[in-house]
Amino acid sequence: MKVIKTVKELQTEIAAMKKSGLSVGLVPTMGALHAGHISLVKRSVEENDVTVVSIFVNPTQFNDKNDLLKYPRTLEADCLLLQQAGVAIAFAPSVEEVYPEPDTRSFSYAPLDTVMEGAFRPGHFNGVCQVVSKLFDMVKPDKAYFGEKDFQQLAIIREMTRQLELPLEIVGCPIMRESDGLAMSSRNTRLSEAERETALNISRVLFESQRYAINHSLLETKSFVEQGIAAVEGLKLEYYEIVDARTMQTVQSWDEAEGIVGCITVFCGEVRLIDNIRYK
Ligand code: PAF
Repeated sequence: MKVIKTVKELQTEIAAMKKSGLSVGLVPTMGALHAGHISLVKRSVEENDVTVVSIFVNPTQFNDKNDLLKYPRTLEADCLLLQQAGVAIAFAPSVEEVYPEPDTRSFSYAPLDTVMEGAFRPGHFNGVCQVVSKLFDMVKPDKAYFGEKDFQQLAIIREMTRQLELPLEIVGCPIMRESDGLAMSSRNTRLSEAERETALNISRVLFESQRYAINHSLLETKSFVEQGIAAVEGLKLEYYEIVDARTMQTVQSWDEAEGIVGCITVFCGEVRLIDNIRYK
């Protein structure tokens, strides 16, 4: 596996691969890799001749500077995992390399990006689109892989790809969970042991709500989750929205959309965790 730090070197490598007719899969990450990332990587390795994994903590998508500072950085361990998974290139550029000048482009995919994470983290999705569009341009992948844990992000990246008519396939991959249900996240490493136990209640309440939803209305199910989280000391709900899986807009009844997903954001101490659950 090559660890590449500059765009120029990356592009030389990619050009040679493309010239040999090799298909390229891209897995964009911010590092601090866990089994969730590795599931995306494995899928890409299976489906493409070569896989490129980017490791870049993108400053433009952090609206909270403290979150950016505290974001875990574990490049050496990450590279070891990627090597074992059969990755051809780990691309780990500096901020200056990705943004030699400030990125003044703005991306707006309303109403997909105005709700939930878009409402609570102003500018977040603009930053995500800035970096993902740059990575797509640098790597020119045939397929790019994103996790469904960031359910709204995946919808927005699909929409960006569609509107920009980019010639690649976006592949969404299921949430990976710890054996006790907690959704895997790089931010989990910031939880103390006690907080880790408390955080477990998020997926517990979501799974219980899936069973509850079978014979209760959508609004009752929403309250069930809100009350379930409120009952846990140490958790603070930011939002829980039950949305149309395609449009990200809230729905009021189970028959209002073909696919329905509940999206949650909860603070566990200082750590902001997200998760989601599919109802239909
Ligand atoms: O999901 C993430 O880790 C990031 O938002 C992404 C897609 C790598 C862009 O920085």
